[in-house]
Amino acid sequence: MNSYGLILAGGKGTRMNDVLPKVAQKILGKEFINFVYDALSDAGIQNIYPIVGYKKDIVLACRDFDTHFVQEEQLGTGHAVQMAYDELYDKEGLCFVIAGDQPLITSESIKSVINAHIANENDLTLLTAERPNPYGYGRIIRNGNEVVRIVEETDCTEEEKLINEVNISTFCFDNKKLFNYIKQLKFENAQEELYLTDVLEIFKKEKLRVEAIKALTYEETVGISNKKDLAIATDFLKKEINNKHMDNGVTLIDPNNTYIGPDVTIGKGAIVYPGSVIEGSVSIGENCLIQSSYIIDSNIGDNVTVGPFAHIRQNSELGNNIRVGNFVEIKKSQLADGVKAAHLTYLGDSEIENKVNIGCGTITVNYDGKNKHKTLIGEGAFIGSNVNLIAPINIGKNSIIAAGSTITKDVPADALAIARERETIKTEYNKK
Ligand code: UD1
Repeated sequence: MNSYGLILAGGKGTRMNDVLPKVAQKILGKEFINFVYDALSDAGIQNIYPIVGYKKDIVLACRDFDTHFVQEEQLGTGHAVQMAYDELYDKEGLCFVIAGDQPLITSESIKSVINAHIANENDLTLLTAERPNPYGYGRIIRNGNEVVRIVEETDCTEEEKLINEVNISTFCFDNKKLFNYIKQLKFENAQEELYLTDVLEIFKKEKLRVEAIKALTYEETVGISNKKDLAIATDFLKKEINNKHMDNGVTLIDPNNTYIGPDVTIGKGAIVYPGSVIEGSVSIGENCLIQSSYIIDSNIGDNVTVGPFAHIRQNSELGNNIRVGNFVEIKKSQLADGVKAAHLTYLGDSEIENKVNIGCGTITVNYDGKNKHKTLIGEGAFIGSNVNLIAPINIGKNSIIAAGSTITKDVPADALAIARERETIKTEYNKK
């Protein structure tokens, strides 16, 4: 069956009081919209499109979307879905509509909605949640077991406000029927918006099949409205992720103070010290030691020690048995097996072969003010302390660079390069 996913991502998120649009904000290094996109995709939805509006360029920069729809003016969730009308109205299949501000939703929950939708031949299947404090959410109005409509907080009677079952903007529609009725929405409500939730009532009037399923836990269904919600969601996800790593044989010395993103893998036997932040697409091999360091979008092999206080970023690739010591920054570089950079070093845009030793204070000088240049260091080379390698530069295999040198010309294999002032000694000078 064809499947379409629409992510509602046009709103500003006023209560977040941030400069970024809400769905571009992050939990553990990953944007809300990317969480939702990945959950839809993992649940098997084939064509996933965001509906963007407020600061749309920032939202669209979150990933490479195939197609998107633009809602220039934010006139409500139903209005947002109308933006997809021309493209989707005649397509057979299902359309999963979901708010982009509920990053903790799982692909399992999405799958369970889709499965019920197909098995029960529903026209609309929605996920709901029981919330201890339902304030702000649309309430699910049932007649016996049957769901009849959704009422927004601002339109609720005092009695309806006591209902704990809420709408969490997670809907699976028959695609053609959704677009058949989406244009019937009216602005007749307290917020004078077109509510997507009103489609449910229209479906009921048309005697279409509607089913509401309750989510098993409410944590994953939280819609993030403000920074306090964000902190609670971050804490929840952090615990889930850290527990998973600990179950997989990773030691987290202090899981409360260890921040690991959802797309990180870590091998058995690794030990991660408090204060470490590991985000983006990262893989770390077995038996590594990560001491209070920051690792983003990089891959690390087995038996590697990092830190304390190292920074590895931007698609760096580290092999096995490597030592990256304190105050070492590695950016967009490849380090082959056995490389050692134990202290106070910057390696940027560099390719470093097996068993190179990088002395304390070495800097690859990769930026000339306009462009970035590459540094290549051949197998077994020994770079002395406090060396500047002015890129582009090629340091030959098994060569030695004397401490304190600023190297501007390529060095052949097996050579010694010294580029520093010869020392002068003036005896008895200070006695005068
Ligand atoms: C909506 C639901 C409410 C539900 C709540 C949480 C409606 C009418 N109400 O509330 O029942 O309990 O979400 O799931 O649907 N958005 C747009 N364009 C717009 C308005 C919103 O793209 O014109 C997007 C926002 O970016 C956000 C999502 O829709 O990702 C939800 O919007 P928000 O304003 O937070 O929710 P409410 O409308 O208050």
